[in-house]
Amino acid sequence: MKRLAACVALLALLGAAPAVAQPAQKIIFDTDFAFAPQDDAMALFFVLNSPELELLGITTVAGNKSMNVATADVLKTLELTNRTEIPVYRGAAGPWMHEGTEWDRKGHGGWWSNDPAPAPPGGFATRKTAEPRGAIDFLVETVAKYPGQVTILAIGPLTNVAMAMRMDTTFARNVKQLVIMGGAVAALPDGGGNHTPNAEFNIYVDPEAAQVVLRSGIPIVLSPLNVSRKARFTKEWYDRIVAVDTPITRIIKERMGQGFAQRPGRTPLMYDQVAAVTLVDPTLMKTVEYYVDVDVNPGPSYGTTVGAAQPWPGGERATKMLVQTDLDFERFITLYVERVTRQGK
Ligand code: RIB
Ligand code: CA
Repeated sequence: MKRLAACVALLALLGAAPAVAQPAQKIIFDTDFAFAPQDDAMALFFVLNSPELELLGITTVAGNKSMNVATADVLKTLELTNRTEIPVYRGAAGPWMHEGTEWDRKGHGGWWSNDPAPAPPGGFATRKTAEPRGAIDFLVETVAKYPGQVTILAIGPLTNVAMAMRMDTTFARNVKQLVIMGGAVAALPDGGGNHTPNAEFNIYVDPEAAQVVLRSGIPIVLSPLNVSRKARFTKEWYDRIVAVDTPITRIIKERMGQGFAQRPGRTPLMYDQVAAVTLVDPTLMKTVEYYVDVDVNPGPSYGTTVGAAQPWPGGERATKMLVQTDLDFERFITLYVERVTRQGK
């Protein structure tokens, strides 16, 4: 016994003490999900196979598609990947406050709609259903149960998070951290929008919710288009994934194989995957401390994130957060592919 203690002391002195296992980070995955190859699904594959993360639940929100589609697709994905133990909660079916425009209702594939979802590829899930409790209740109750311990990975419009803040005024102070895929910061390189000249999609579709969340005081890591544009998935990495056979890689092969066969040079951006990988290894991303706010004034800049190193006149409510600007792509994609090709549980 004495010898063991002496040995540990010596190792500690040499800086080689046995690693103490860290408890897994509690996370909630808040998503405008759609079936693979869409980026929310590709981000979920990473999270499902990362033992550093304890996935407490998935909350769905309207964005890429309607909330009903997001829910049906995520249920099917969990069933196909044999992860039916993870609870799924239905969230907001439209933006928090603003009135629907023609574009909202018709121009973007019916994302703002309560119509029943069409069947996901392979048909609806048969063994997995959404929880009876809604996403906002789940967010509020879970954060209250684990104060200061829950990180929310928010990779869709921020409607659910804003509604949880309004439902429980202690919510914001009890969230450990928010990692958000959203926004584009024009003052930094590669900062144009992808939906309007300066607005990014997730923020544009619910700017009022985004403003409330960005101003909340919750510690935020923002993963904007500036960094997404440096993370392009290529056929080389697709080939490495599908060389391994697992339930996850089978879905990727079925859903991306034809696209890469027809157009091997395509390079889809890995928006939500960058935010997900940040949870496991934030050292892969370069960040700056920036003040960021959201423009909610109707007009040409509606839904734009504005950021700067210092507050500016008119931007006094901008809040300091970590903004990702770049990443070490080789290390990022190596970690991503290693996780996605794991045999899983
Ligand atoms: O602008 C990219 C973001 O919008 C991604 O999160 C994508 O999934 C969509 O939600
Ligand atoms: Ca998304």
